[in-house]
Amino acid sequence: MRHTVQMSPNGGQFTVIDGQTIHAAALNHDIAWPNRCRIGACGTCLCKILQGDVSYQIEPMLTERERSEGWALACLAIPQSDIVLTFEE
Ligand code: FES
Repeated sequence: MRHTVQMSPNGGQFTVIDGQTIHAAALNHDIAWPNRCRIGACGTCLCKILQGDVSYQIEPMLTERERSEGWALACLAIPQSDIVLTFEE
């Protein structure tokens, strides 16, 4: 199964295959996504999920408040639906 990730507000879009992280899919589509560690430790890949759901195979180091506000670590986040996200607060 594939899911679509739409980036707001610039409207960029890419697809994610089943089990792939948002970050890995973005790199496969030559999107210059901020990153350093790619293992959930640095927070550089942080984005905010505006619509849709993600899951994690490795629990991200995010507070409950950050998670409830929609913040996600793209290098660990696996879409469970189509996603709309932003890098803005
Ligand atoms: S790249 Fe470091 S937390 Fe995602």
